[in-house]
Amino acid sequence: LFSAVELAPRDPILGLNEQFAADTNPNKVNLGVGVYFDEAGKLPLLQCVQAAEKTLMGTPTPRGYLPIDGIAAYDAGVKNLVFGADSEVLKAGRVATVQALGGTGALKIGADFLKQLNPAAKVLISDPSWENHRALFTKAGFEVDTYAYYDAAKRGVNFDGMLASLNAAAAGTIVVLHACCHNPTGYDLTPEQWEQVIAVVKAKNLTAFLDMAYQGFAQGLAQDGAVVGKFVAAGLNILVSTSFSKSFSLYGERVGALSVVCTDKDEAARVLSQIKITIRTNYSNPPIHGGAVVAAVLGDATLRAQWEQELAGMRDRIKAMRQQLVAGLKAAGVQQDMSFITTQVGMFSYSGLSKDQMVRLRNEFGVYGTDTGRMCVAALNEKNIGYVCASIAKVL
Ligand code: LMR
Repeated sequence: LFSAVELAPRDPILGLNEQFAADTNPNKVNLGVGVYFDEAGKLPLLQCVQAAEKTLMGTPTPRGYLPIDGIAAYDAGVKNLVFGADSEVLKAGRVATVQALGGTGALKIGADFLKQLNPAAKVLISDPSWENHRALFTKAGFEVDTYAYYDAAKRGVNFDGMLASLNAAAAGTIVVLHACCHNPTGYDLTPEQWEQVIAVVKAKNLTAFLDMAYQGFAQGLAQDGAVVGKFVAAGLNILVSTSFSKSFSLYGERVGALSVVCTDKDEAARVLSQIKITIRTNYSNPPIHGGAVVAAVLGDATLRAQWEQELAGMRDRIKAMRQQLVAGLKAAGVQQDMSFITTQVGMFSYSGLSKDQMVRLRNEFGVYGTDTGRMCVAALNEKNIGYVCASIAKVL
């Protein structure tokens, strides 16, 4: 039965973790996967999470099945965070939100739902994009193509190219957009550029799917999330995937959500009913713990403030590491101007290093980034940054 099964290639991101774990180099540094480590190189367990867990553990609760769409308080918390508690869309009851298995799970549920709705539609992802976007939408049955995004020469966004790609797309095309902290490049659109993208999405009748996996890592929760409000204000029906993996440091809990902005309450109820079937036929219903923790934090003013503070701490430390990386590379003898690293936002730096250089970094120095040149700046610290800079200088 399985004799013809071929060995699949390693996952371009998570596969690096496996390779890293097996690496015996004592100096090894994992800048591959998008995970935040604190200044001591440790995965943080946020204080707000610990406080919420303490409260939850204080009232032991039996573990029945959750509703298919998850914990009601969680879905409400996500809605308030993503759309604003006073927003017209929430008051009108026209957003369908479901708890999902991380941002990836939200994208997959959304993709399956869209495939059922519009099977002939094409999907456009940015060039480049998060590696899993193409794989995920392809597995959902879509033909996936790209829209122009990164301008290597300019070290920024090829915005004219992006608009041209979107303008050329057929009506109904699904466009996957990074709401903030573009993965992998770290280059975001300006608010004015977003307005122009929205105008094209509207004029060409495209379907926008906003992937918001890093809300809070560029400027702050409200600023980073503002793009959602712009789409809503333009009267567009959109999909938004949310992930709390990074912002709550709850990677392994798989806490995310899919929100669909509909035309009215009745439509939202019908959409929700179909998404529930998609969930039921995939994994039945989501797990409890991570969602309960996030719901507890989002629903409590003190814990929520604490979360914002801790998130700001992560954001500020990443920014400091960017500065130190630029200075450290210069000190290590790198001639070229690397200051672009500080204009990028989020967890990653798209370094411009070639695949060969990335492979050398990994094999000779134990410094792991993706083959595309992406490095997770959020895993740098005072102890490893000198070694990383010296290693990069050698391969450059
Ligand atoms: C990443 O891009 O490294 C993260 O989003 C983790 C993942 O699932 O790939």
